[in-house]
Amino acid sequence: MKHNFGAGPCILPQEVFQEASEAVLNFNDTGLSILEISHRSKEFEAVIVEAEQLVRELLSVPQGYSILFLQGGASAQFAMVPLNLLPEGGNAAYLDTGAWSSKAIKEAKKIGQVTVVASSADANYNYIPKDYTVPSDAAYFHYTANNTIYGTEIFDTPQSDVPLVSDMSSDILSRPIQVSDFGLIYAGVQKNLGPAGATLVIVKDELLGKTGRTLPSIFDYQSHVAAKSLYNTPPVFSIYVSMLTLRWLKNKGGIGVIEQENIIKARTLYDEIERNSLFKGTAVPEDRSRMNVTFVTENKAHEAAFLELAKERGLVGLKGHRSVGGFRASIYNALSITGVNALVDAMQEFEEKNK
Ligand SMILES: Cc1ncc(COP(=O)(O)O)c(C=O)c1O
Repeated sequence: MKHNFGAGPCILPQEVFQEASEAVLNFNDTGLSILEISHRSKEFEAVIVEAEQLVRELLSVPQGYSILFLQGGASAQFAMVPLNLLPEGGNAAYLDTGAWSSKAIKEAKKIGQVTVVASSADANYNYIPKDYTVPSDAAYFHYTANNTIYGTEIFDTPQSDVPLVSDMSSDILSRPIQVSDFGLIYAGVQKNLGPAGATLVIVKDELLGKTGRTLPSIFDYQSHVAAKSLYNTPPVFSIYVSMLTLRWLKNKGGIGVIEQENIIKARTLYDEIERNSLFKGTAVPEDRSRMNVTFVTENKAHEAAFLELAKERGLVGLKGHRSVGGFRASIYNALSITGVNALVDAMQEFEEKNK
């Protein structure tokens, strides 16, 4: 048995893997594989409608917001957001909390004027800047909710007079959010939702079509809203498996239940990092992520040895991102407390051996 702490693509619920594998051979008793059915078939239409309804229900998405499944990953959204929301001659505000924010900023700068309101680059992004002002004439304010690489997360939605846009790729569906606070939310599905391929976008309809820019249809949210995410062939399998994960989440009791589990998992692991004399966390305590726990060994020479022990215990995907080093335990929705306890046991065993 392996416990997969990979940052994404990553662990999904075992039941979802099981059901998806059956659908690869025979989807819903159609005698066809989910991989070969038409995206225009009534069977797939039922899948995409259910996926959308489950997102609406689990996140209490209000009327006036469209839910889309697009392609190109969160990275395509780095460009689509300014193309669709930043008027010609306008200005957009961004908070720089890591590599993904920086990439979003870089892309937006190709399209219009960008104000970076604050950055934590000075401390290798180990904290979230708190003291900044969003210009009131900005078309929108963009921030990354969870910094997958650095292990920091923004729990309190920033206050802003302008529409908020958030990259929630690595913490979507891990805790409740108030969708009405946002103009647009996007997330690559490959963490808490499904296999890589689809990107979830939740957008407030009234913000669209106001830039004065003519866009290629494929990059225009309005084409996808009008076609209900079937403007072109969508990533059928990714959307199907996302729908199964959404069903799993609903059957578990929804976002409130998963949030409590995520709190317990994160606390268990951070408590051990604090207690264990051989390890230390890299993110400042008040901004620590519940999804990606980043930590290092006090003694650099212990790093490879701990990874080896972890591997022997079936704990995989723990190597930290090269820009932080050490370890990163991604403890997304589907990673059970059993997995976290197995990691804590390995850390305690390692301390015993190396004291
Ligand atoms: C917060 C965040 N934003 C954006 C991305 C890029 O996503 P994609 O690979 O889907 O373009 C990632 C990938 O890990 C991420 O964690």
